[in-house]
Amino acid sequence: MTTLIKNGLVVSPQGAIAADVLIDGEKIAAVLTPGDTSLGNELTSTADVVIDAAGKYVIPGGVDSHTHMELPFGGTFASDTFDTGTRAAAWGGTTTIIDFAVQKFGERVQDGLATWHEKARGNTHIDYAFHQIIGGVDDDSLKAMDELVNEGITSFKLFMAYPGVFYSDDGQILRAMQTAANNGGMIMMHAENGIAIDVLVSQALAAGKTDPKYHSLTRPWETEAEATNRAIMLARMTGAPLYVVHMSAKQAVKILQEAKNDAWNVFGETCPQYLYLSLEEQLSQPGFEGAKWVCSTPLRSKAEGHHEELWKYLRTNDLSIVSTDHCPFCFKEQKELGVGNFSAIPNGIGSVEHRMDLLYQGVVEGKISLQRWVEITSTTPARMFGLYPQKGVIAPGSDADIVIYNPSGRTEIGYHKTHHMNMDHSAWEGFNVDGHVDTVLSRGAVIVDNNAYLGHMGHGKYLKRGLSQYLI
Ligand code: URP
Ligand code: ZN
Ligand code: ZN
Repeated sequence: MTTLIKNGLVVSPQGAIAADVLIDGEKIAAVLTPGDTSLGNELTSTADVVIDAAGKYVIPGGVDSHTHMELPFGGTFASDTFDTGTRAAAWGGTTTIIDFAVQKFGERVQDGLATWHEKARGNTHIDYAFHQIIGGVDDDSLKAMDELVNEGITSFKLFMAYPGVFYSDDGQILRAMQTAANNGGMIMMHAENGIAIDVLVSQALAAGKTDPKYHSLTRPWETEAEATNRAIMLARMTGAPLYVVHMSAKQAVKILQEAKNDAWNVFGETCPQYLYLSLEEQLSQPGFEGAKWVCSTPLRSKAEGHHEELWKYLRTNDLSIVSTDHCPFCFKEQKELGVGNFSAIPNGIGSVEHRMDLLYQGVVEGKISLQRWVEITSTTPARMFGLYPQKGVIAPGSDADIVIYNPSGRTEIGYHKTHHMNMDHSAWEGFNVDGHVDTVLSRGAVIVDNNAYLGHMGHGKYLKRGLSQYLI
C-alpha cells in the first residue's frame, strides 16, 4: 500500500521545507518537491491513500528514550503497562520508546532482561527498545554487558542514588565503565549523591519534616552537581561515554558543559517536568497534594533560575535530548504510600503522552526553534541510541513513523479525564497548549487520526540497537 502526505512542511534539524512524502508499505519511499516532475513524482498520482497536510508540520515520530513501564519502585509498580503506556505515547506523537529493563539486586542481568521482553512482547502499540539497568555490578553482570551489546542493548543505567536498591558504589561504577569503554556501550547515570541524601532525609524526618516538598529540600542541587562531576571524572578515567539522565540542576549542567567543551564524550538529558514544574508551584502544594510531583532528580526552585538555564542549555546543545522519564503512579494507594513520610512516596511523574506538545510550547514561546524541537525529541535520541536512520528522520528508506502536527490546534493536556495514561490524576493540570497531534503513522500505518485511535496492541516491534552514533 502507498500513502502520500502532501502539502505539508517537512521539518528536520537541518530545516523546514515544503515537500510531499511518499510511503510504500512500512518505509518512506521518497521526499518530493511539490510540482517536481522528475523521477518518483509519477508515483504520487497513483497513491492508495492521500493525506492533506496543508498548513501543518510533517515531522519524524517522537523517540522517547527514557520510560519506565511497570517499574518496580517503593513497594509498588509504575502504573502503565506496555499496552497502556505505548498507546498513550502514540496519542501524543511518540512512535518509539526505549524502556529500561531492570536487573534487581541479586538477580542475573539476563533474567531481568527476559522478564522485560515478556512484559513487552506482543503488548506494545509502537516500536520499542531497551536500555539495561545494572542493579548489581559483579563479574557476572559485567560479562552480561558484553553479551547485551551484541544483542542490541547498547546502553546501561547505573545509579549513584537509592542505596540498598539500585545503588552502585564508585568502584562498581568504575568497573562497569571500564567494561563499556571496551565494548562501546553508553553508560547512563542517575547522578545524585544517594549516601548524602539518605542522611539529609533521616534528619528531616527526625525533625518532623514529612511533607512532599522535603523530597526536594533533602536533595539540594549540590547532591546532583557533585555526583555529575564524579560520574564525569570516573568516565574520564576509563574512557567510557557518559549520558547523564534527568538533569534538573543548572549547576550540574554547567559542569557537564565544561567537559563537553573539552570534547569529552559526555551528554545530558532533561525532562519536561524540569522545564515547567517547580518546588514552589507544584511540590509545595498544601497537605499531601505535592506527592504528585515527587520524582528524582527533584523539581527545583524557579526562583533559583534552573528552568530558564535548562532552556538555554537546550539551545546550546549542552543538553542534547528531552525525554520524559515516564514513571507514573496513581495518587490513590501508590503515591499515598508516603502519607506522613515523603521518603516513602514512589518517585516518578507520567508524561509520555505530552512530551511533543510540551516541547512544541517551547517553540511557541520562542525558547527553541522548530528545527531544534524535532532534533531534541526525535533525531538526536535516535542517533544517541543507535536507531538512526531507521528512526528519527523523514528520508527514503527510513521507517514511516510520521506525525502530522497542527500548529493552529490546541491541546488540553492537563485534564486527567482526557489523557490516556493509566493514572488517576495529571501532573500537568492546567496546561493547555498551542499545537495538536493530528495524525500519527507508525511504520506506514495510521494509528491516530483526528482524535480517533486506530492502532492496536501488538503492532509494535522490538528494535535491536546499534552503538551511539555520537561516538568516535
Ligand atoms: O523519579 C524517577 N525518576 N523515577 C524513575 C526512576 C529513575 O530514577 O529514573
Ligand atoms: Zn534515574
Ligand atoms: Zn528514569
